[in-house]
Amino acid sequence: MEESFVPLLPASFRPAPALSEGHIHIWTISQRPRTSSDYVPLLSKDELSRASGMRSPQLFNRFIADHGALRLLLSAYLDTDPRKLPIVANNYGKPALDIPHCRLRFNMSHSGELTMIALCLDSELGVDVEAMRPIAEWEEIAASHFSHHESESLRGEEPKARISAFFRCWTRKEALIKAIGMGLSIPLDSFTVSTSLTEPAMLLHCAWDPGAVRHWTLVHLEPGPGHVGALAIEDADWSIQQFEWP
Ligand SMILES: CC(C)(COP(=O)(O)OP(=O)(O)OC[C@H]1O[C@@H](n2cnc3c(N)ncnc32)[C@H](O)[C@@H]1OP(=O)(O)O)[C@@H](O)C(=O)NCCC(=O)NCCS
Repeated sequence: MEESFVPLLPASFRPAPALSEGHIHIWTISQRPRTSSDYVPLLSKDELSRASGMRSPQLFNRFIADHGALRLLLSAYLDTDPRKLPIVANNYGKPALDIPHCRLRFNMSHSGELTMIALCLDSELGVDVEAMRPIAEWEEIAASHFSHHESESLRGEEPKARISAFFRCWTRKEALIKAIGMGLSIPLDSFTVSTSLTEPAMLLHCAWDPGAVRHWTLVHLEPGPGHVGALAIEDADWSIQQFEWP
């Protein structure tokens, strides 16, 4: 292992906590460095090129910090050099490690002040976080993207509770789409998730695969003030440990 990246690692961070079968680790990053220049050397050419296309210095900084953090995390779990990790995307953009026999799976989401990175062994997973904010056209978004059952469930909520139900629904749908890894080629209205606070997060119906309701587990996440999140993962019986980026 080369020394040059070691000072970038927070002292409490390496080695990563042991990740075993049946466990999911979720890391929440709520405080990014004001300047992300320390992380630049960690990123691949592709990542730097994507960063340079960001619309604002804030988004540039966030991209560098989050992708640097992702590389540091993955490298801590794999005990390897973060600069040499082969991170590749499938045809729909889902990133994965291109390392033969590597069991580590991950997914990342960013919104508002928060970034979440979820990791496990062997199973595909997806994570989504959203900053809960006023969205004037949320009813139109629900009507065009959510299933009929989901839209009806939102209407069944007290008016002031509808926007948080909307974000629960949104994050659960996005988490599932991200776990499957085929992006928006899967019509968002072709499956139904639970939205109410009174029922657990779950996939209720799936038009293209009725067995999917047994195959996928959804988890409701509350990653920080003003944010809501969801995780989707194959199969059941997972135990989740959450960590704050130091
Ligand atoms: C890209 C998409 C996977 C998620 O987008 P998003 O929710 O806006 O963004 P998130 O921050 O949660 O996730 C982005 C991260 O997911 C990962 N990702 C990218 N494509 C992915 C895919 N096909 N599958 C899984 N993960 C993916 C990447 O790590 C990406 O980070 P990066 O852009 O910094 O490299 C996709 O589902 C999308 O474009 N959704 C549109 C959102 C929408 O219109 N929702 C309607 C309401 S339900």
